[in-house]
Amino acid sequence: MADISRRSLLVGNLTAPLARRTLPEETEPGLREYAARTGLLYGAAAAWPALRDDEHYAQSFARECNILVPENVLKMGLVHPEPDAYRFEPPDFMADFCQRHDMRMRGHTLVWHQQIWPWLKTHVNAQNAQKHLEQHIHTVAGRYRGRMHSWDVVNEAIHLPDGREDGLRITPFLELLGPGYIELAFRAAREADPNAKLTYNDYGLDYDTPQQEAKRQAVLRLLRRLKERDVPVHAFGMQAHLDWSEFRHFKPETLQRFFREIASLGLEIYITELDVSDRDLPDDVAERDEAIAGVYETYLKAALGEPAVKAVLTWGLTDRYTWLAGRRKRASGTPVRVLPLDREYRRKPAWRAIRDALRSAPARTA
Ligand code: G3I
Repeated sequence: MADISRRSLLVGNLTAPLARRTLPEETEPGLREYAARTGLLYGAAAAWPALRDDEHYAQSFARECNILVPENVLKMGLVHPEPDAYRFEPPDFMADFCQRHDMRMRGHTLVWHQQIWPWLKTHVNAQNAQKHLEQHIHTVAGRYRGRMHSWDVVNEAIHLPDGREDGLRITPFLELLGPGYIELAFRAAREADPNAKLTYNDYGLDYDTPQQEAKRQAVLRLLRRLKERDVPVHAFGMQAHLDWSEFRHFKPETLQRFFREIASLGLEIYITELDVSDRDLPDDVAERDEAIAGVYETYLKAALGEPAVKAVLTWGLTDRYTWLAGRRKRASGTPVRVLPLDREYRRKPAWRAIRDALRSAPARTA
């Protein structure tokens, strides 16, 4: 099978020119240290090729994180762009990086309806879909067997607006294989990597609104169904893409109740993609940073009160590389300030908010 790693496919966010000659000096330890003290993991999504090409970005990961997740390069269409060709160079680099820096790694994601194989429409049909999906999972998860802390096996499978009674999103795999595609994916992932914690990951579950409550209930029903059928699912991933302007709908007790129910199914919980959009905040940097930090702190203090929560990952580490810069642009055009480090890798109030939440979290056992 061809490995087209070296072809010049551009993935990941573009690497901006380096603005600093050295990484800012810090007297305090990194977030990884605060997390470790209470038995937690802290990490972030890493962009490609920035992790390879931007030395300060890489150093910031080494300093702050004890877990890393590739932001894009393990997605179906990127890692498996042709039926017989995989592109493993970027995720291999990241796996080696994690090993060198004593970090864990999460896999994201084996099955998702976005960034799907570009060849799906021309090559996949109801007769061969199972074979293709199993082959993909065996090859990708199998390559990192024993090296992954966890895998997002299925991502975002619930979508109530699609109108199905079971709440499932109508995706190519649902249409080709029926609802059983989820179970099939988890079983294939278990065969490929028996040690990784197999995770169901989803978004839009954070607020105390009727829509999000309905989605929480649908996620719980899905997880219960999987557990009843002895499907190897070990964890739930709470994406937690937050927005300052929606945060008035957040109620700690609603989040905690949801997490309790998930934990009662015997599942671990990871906060997998935390970030906080500042789109509707004023330009003033100090004011904006404090408001964003407040959201991080309130959310994490509520989340970390649940002992089943074992890991916190932000969806990016520095404002230099974040999907929110493109997808949640500020009206004034000022750069977004949404992650723990600023564009020059300096720690912001959001960093201190995460530190404080990690520091005050009850100690985890195992
Ligand atoms: O690589 C191409 C590049 O060649 C091209 O020039 C450029 C022009 O648009 O696009 C580049 O690909 C982009 C890719 O990010 C890499 O930057 C895709 O268009 C773009 O759609 C893709 O967006 C990613 C998005 O998932 C869709 O896969 C974001 O970076 C990534 O942050 C986002 O992450 C998702 C999680 O996987 C699941 N949960 C929600 C989260 C945020 O949307």
